[in-house]
Amino acid sequence: MLWNSLTALALVAPSNALIRFGCSQLVVDRLDPLVEPGNTPSAHLHQIIGGNSFTPDMRHDVMDPAKLSTCTTCQPADDFSNYWTAPLFFKARNGTYKRVPQKPNSGFEGQIGGMTVYYMQNQLADFAQKAKVKAFPPGFRMIIGSPTSGTRAEADKFPQLTYTCLQDMSTRFPETKNFPKKPCPAGIMVNLRFPTCWDGKNLDSPDHMAHITYPATGTFESQGPCPGSHPVRVPQVMFEVIYETKEFNDLAQWPEDGSQPFVYSFGDQTGFANHGDYLFGWKDDALQKIMDDECFVNCKSMRTQSIEAMNSCSVSRKVDEDIGDSTWIAALPGQHHSEKKARSYHA
Ligand SMILES: *[C@@H]1O[C@H](CO)[C@@H](O)[C@H](O)[C@H]1NC(C)=O
Repeated sequence: MLWNSLTALALVAPSNALIRFGCSQLVVDRLDPLVEPGNTPSAHLHQIIGGNSFTPDMRHDVMDPAKLSTCTTCQPADDFSNYWTAPLFFKARNGTYKRVPQKPNSGFEGQIGGMTVYYMQNQLADFAQKAKVKAFPPGFRMIIGSPTSGTRAEADKFPQLTYTCLQDMSTRFPETKNFPKKPCPAGIMVNLRFPTCWDGKNLDSPDHMAHITYPATGTFESQGPCPGSHPVRVPQVMFEVIYETKEFNDLAQWPEDGSQPFVYSFGDQTGFANHGDYLFGWKDDALQKIMDDECFVNCKSMRTQSIEAMNSCSVSRKVDEDIGDSTWIAALPGQHHSEKKARSYHA
């Protein structure tokens, strides 16, 4: 019987919707339009992808990226959203830092740095589910994770923010909550899955998280129900950020105490403070149409642009400082007391 039902599933067309696409780097700059709107510079450095209307201040009453952008670094031609995370640095034994470059997933060769973005209606590769999701409205934004999480318990408040130590580009397991403790031959992949239940009313909230939450029981993948306070099931937004660590994998350059050498731009050496920001900016109802289309990765309803067009979109940096791309810098940008703030994880 089981064999029969599996066969039947294999013969029908996938009924789930999931899009997965690459976005090239838009800019790496010390700006934080959600947490510190207007501050130029903000406290720490970010790496940003998406629409070129990205500016230091993006309060939703002021702007809609889909209306103000003229290009996007993302593959879908109608996605002017912005997505950002804190970049990773390598800390040398002499205390200086270099920024770790990002590289595309396999299949997205040619893309300059950036990330891979997913919008999931259902669990990856579960073709039987038929649940619907409501696309985000204009002005919607959210943050997941916290730059102040310093312990495993604090990190566990955000269940799906993890790291994968890439043995090769197809490694997907295991995932850890802390930075890998050993060199990763093909790089470090940071996985950020956002909550999938929305209160249905607020485009934002003071901490940029209260208007969203996780399913009441189970997970998005297991189709756990959304709680009454946040009843609207939205797509699961996921980022994969891959760091090319090969320049830094020589153990002779790692700390002598056996700890690992990578540190976020705001000083976290544990990895527990993994966090990401999302600012919705799809044109009109393009995202809803794709989600309703129940297509898988290559969706006819998703208008795409070439990698050349993605790579040719960028904005110039507003904060003029050395961010450690080619030289070793004495302190993380904006973090002049980084040695005091830095937390290391030896367990
Ligand atoms: C610090 O260490 C890096 C990496 O080993 C090296 O390239 C750089 O020259 C060193 N800087 C100083 C000032 O010693």
